[in-house]
Amino acid sequence: MCAEVYEGYGSLSAESIVYVNGEFYPRDEARISVFDSGILYGDGVFEAIRLFNSKPFKQVEHIERLYRSAKALGINIQLTKEEIKRAMEATIKRNKGMENAYVRILVTRGEKKAVGLDPRLCVDRPTVIIFAVPVGEAKSESSLIVSSIRRTPPECLDPKIKSINYLNNILAKIEAIHAGADDALMLDIRGFIAEATGANVFIVKEGRMATPQADNILDGITRRAIIDLAKSNGFEVQERNVTLQEVYTADEIFLTGTSEDVCAVTSVGGRTIGDGKLGPTTEKIMRLYRGMTQP
Ligand SMILES: Cc1ncc(COP(=O)(O)O)c(C=O)c1O
Repeated sequence: MCAEVYEGYGSLSAESIVYVNGEFYPRDEARISVFDSGILYGDGVFEAIRLFNSKPFKQVEHIERLYRSAKALGINIQLTKEEIKRAMEATIKRNKGMENAYVRILVTRGEKKAVGLDPRLCVDRPTVIIFAVPVGEAKSESSLIVSSIRRTPPECLDPKIKSINYLNNILAKIEAIHAGADDALMLDIRGFIAEATGANVFIVKEGRMATPQADNILDGITRRAIIDLAKSNGFEVQERNVTLQEVYTADEIFLTGTSEDVCAVTSVGGRTIGDGKLGPTTEKIMRLYRGMTQP
């Protein structure tokens, strides 16, 4: 993620109203149990949804992914998708200045009556939290390092599950911060590129785009929207293994994600990408994406 965006992102003001299990609380009164399985074991899932001019972008797709992630972990949300959608809308309504905002929906397995991994120790229902924060324009350029921390392979924890456990991504992010970069490019367990710590990656070479296939990455909703948008505007987009050599020799690289929108990568591991500036293809994709999200 672009560092400057990150710092400004997600500032929950004291006036923020947070949804917790069907009730609304001012920020400082929103509470969950310290015995929640999400706290004890990072046992939960989440989604982030952008509001552009008060309209949620790809809300259905995000809610579908939330339920897929929960199902994969054996968490029964106990609310219908429609109820979650209504809870999200009610949360937005109770907060001011949410025309351009970031909404997070988080579901944990719930409070435990005893300490232990066994999911049957959860008391009654999952914990559902929803909050919204205003956001400004995302930064348009970013520098990356190549992290020594690999993206979790599907053999260990399928990255398609958007779980609340981001520890290896956080470790990669710390490496980036120590190196003075904005973010980290994570490789998959085989050494092909996977994704950034909270965004998907595209490379551009001679006008053609390539992005890692969705095996070892979170299959980003923005990624999918960009692939469709690029193809319908005449670009060739390949979903395939991408090597670091291709990264270093790419004409352009960009990141996509709910927090990033589309963000140009100007350097990777200290090597300048292309001419180190926002390139024409990325600029066109940014423009098309803006047209799609803010028609
Ligand atoms: C690891 C990771 N990859 C990619 C993405 C981008 O996904 P989306 O476009 O659905 O926001 C995210 C977003 O949170 C992420 O956390």
